[in-house]
Amino acid sequence: MANSDTSVLFVCLGNICRSPTAEAVFREKIKNSHFSVDIDSAGTMGHHAGVTPDERAKAVGEMRGYNFKGIKSRRVVFEDFERFEYILAMDKENLRHLLEMCPAEHQHKVSLFMHFADSDVEEVPDPYYGGKRGFEYVLDLIELACEGLLVKLAPRFEVR
Ligand code: 4NP
Repeated sequence: MANSDTSVLFVCLGNICRSPTAEAVFREKIKNSHFSVDIDSAGTMGHHAGVTPDERAKAVGEMRGYNFKGIKSRRVVFEDFERFEYILAMDKENLRHLLEMCPAEHQHKVSLFMHFADSDVEEVPDPYYGGKRGFEYVLDLIELACEGLLVKLAPRFEVR
């Protein structure tokens, strides 16, 4: 985060559907701001390491103008807890895994991503075994939470 204003890691299970989508959406939103943010995504499971995002997530995201170029799945590593200021889990299961892995001094960085959304929905559900509509719903939630995250971060940069 040395040259960035802040840093955000989005985390789901496989890092091929939800968290790469959140990475692509937040990159786009940050592009239109004057902030510099270190943005990445990762999964709590390593099965898809090195793989590009799920074609269904990509198709739905690209339809709304998001760019998935360069994103490849990776597992959460211990150094992530040092590197990132915000570590945002897509659901409670991944939140629990992150908190189990995370050293005590960094636990405050870990939270549910939907906590930032103006919504009663608490989790971004796993769309992997569902259809296209599930991916569209996931994208709706991710857009909402990314907007909320940006609103939350904005005052910090305005007082620099
Ligand atoms: P993600 O979705 O956690 O949003 O990337 C999943 C991707 C793969 C699997 C489950 C969820 N899987 O079981 O392989």
